[in-house]
Amino acid sequence: MELRILLIGDIVGKPGLRIVERAVPVLRERHALDLVVANAENVADGSGITPKLGQALLEAGVDLLTLGDHAFARREGHRFIAECRRIVRPANYPEAAVGRGWLVHDTESGFPVGLVQVQGRVFMARQADCPFAAVDRAIAALSARTPVILCDVHAEATSEKIALGWHLDGRVSVLFGTHTHVPTADARLLPQGTAYITDLGMTGPYASVLGRAVEPVLRHFRTGMPSPFKVATRDVRLAGALVRVDARSGRAHAIERLELRDEECAP
Ligand SMILES: [Fe+2]
Ligand SMILES: [Fe+2]
Repeated sequence: MELRILLIGDIVGKPGLRIVERAVPVLRERHALDLVVANAENVADGSGITPKLGQALLEAGVDLLTLGDHAFARREGHRFIAECRRIVRPANYPEAAVGRGWLVHDTESGFPVGLVQVQGRVFMARQADCPFAAVDRAIAALSARTPVILCDVHAEATSEKIALGWHLDGRVSVLFGTHTHVPTADARLLPQGTAYITDLGMTGPYASVLGRAVEPVLRHFRTGMPSPFKVATRDVRLAGALVRVDARSGRAHAIERLELRDEECAP
């Protein structure tokens, strides 16, 4: 038995949510998906999540959500993060932080899947404990319950993500990176059977700087003056990866990048 999993990179604002709502039902059908996982740290106007937006993503056909350094940016989202059983924040945040770092989800095909997120520490403003130690602890707990474990590494530095890939090869089914909003062309199977990609890329407007309108960001860089960064609107794409995993051994069989434009979402 093989699990077909879609991973979706950082969903930015309303444009990101809209393309998820249009594309996910089509992709579920087209690829006979068993599971859809998406990063939702930017869904609330580019920063954070609200209960309404989290619910909208689940209703669109996303099964599980991950977060990141913007997890707690919206106060009204804290209760959703605490109570929803389908969302994780980085496992290397303080024990007392709202939410959980890992979970086990029962897919409709009857196979449980574990999900864990850790945040990197290189070039990240938000502090976190050692991601290597934190992910080891989560895997010790998860592997008692399922051989299929997905790990979201939310980090800026490619080196830190690749190092975590080697650290976890053969111990997780998939390690996917999020946070940079720029997709990498390095999807591959590591020797011990872990599917790996450094960053899924952004699901949102590409006529932008990482999802924000170009003009204010340019002005900020050129003048050093503060400027509100609005979410951009044009050239909306969904970025992610498709992975096939053996449900019994947890070994990945394949990983390929996926990038979909608005007009490719028709059934
Ligand atoms: Fe992000
Ligand atoms: Fe982030």
